[in-house]
Amino acid sequence: MQIAIDGPASTGKSTVAKIIAKKLDFLYVDTGAMYRSLTYFGLKNKIDLNNEELLTNLLKSMNYDSRVINNRLHFFVNSEDVTQEIRNPIVAKNVSQVASYPSVRKHLISLQQNIAGNQNVVMDGRDIGTVVLPSADYKFFLTADPKIRAKRRFLENKKKGINLSLEELVTAIKRRDELDSKQMVMAKDAILIDTGEMSIDQVVNSLMNKIQR
Ligand code: C5P
Repeated sequence: MQIAIDGPASTGKSTVAKIIAKKLDFLYVDTGAMYRSLTYFGLKNKIDLNNEELLTNLLKSMNYDSRVINNRLHFFVNSEDVTQEIRNPIVAKNVSQVASYPSVRKHLISLQQNIAGNQNVVMDGRDIGTVVLPSADYKFFLTADPKIRAKRRFLENKKKGINLSLEELVTAIKRRDELDSKQMVMAKDAILIDTGEMSIDQVVNSLMNKIQR
């Protein structure tokens, strides 16, 4: 069974996807982490982020892997744990540009499709229900008001010691929504859920109630 969860940043997608995958004992695939990793290594290796070809070559040299360590999902690239680094605001700021390149998308989409294969999978991203897994058994599209999403990010950042104001976060989120809008299309057969006024448990329950095994 394939479950696709799409939607903009900070709608609770990955938290909900992880919980659902655990409940169902399905593989969880975080596609955003792949685009983030490429951005992180591009910045780290001082690659010009305007150069699609160099970025695509870098991407082809990267091996992705994820493992649960101490109850937390860790993300590895060429055996390096990049779980923390890919969440940095500098990565968030640049990831949409990197993700906009057709050759980057082509490579990652086929990698994501190969990972899913015939397995039971919960995959989250922007284009899962439309492009990566168009015949997924269940498709969900989570949304929430940008101000609510910025507040969530603000609280997460506070825990990590990252100091960005709420206003800065609203601007950053709206900017990322706009840059991602081309690939972030809700599938016609997706179920739309506004998570703005919902707790994570409520969102999980709402999705679980729709999924029939
Ligand atoms: O989901 P997350 O916020 O980690 O995604 C980071 C970025 O990666 C998105 O803002 C988007 O630019 C890109 N992305 C994408 N397609 C996906 C997943 C993420 O373009 N399937």
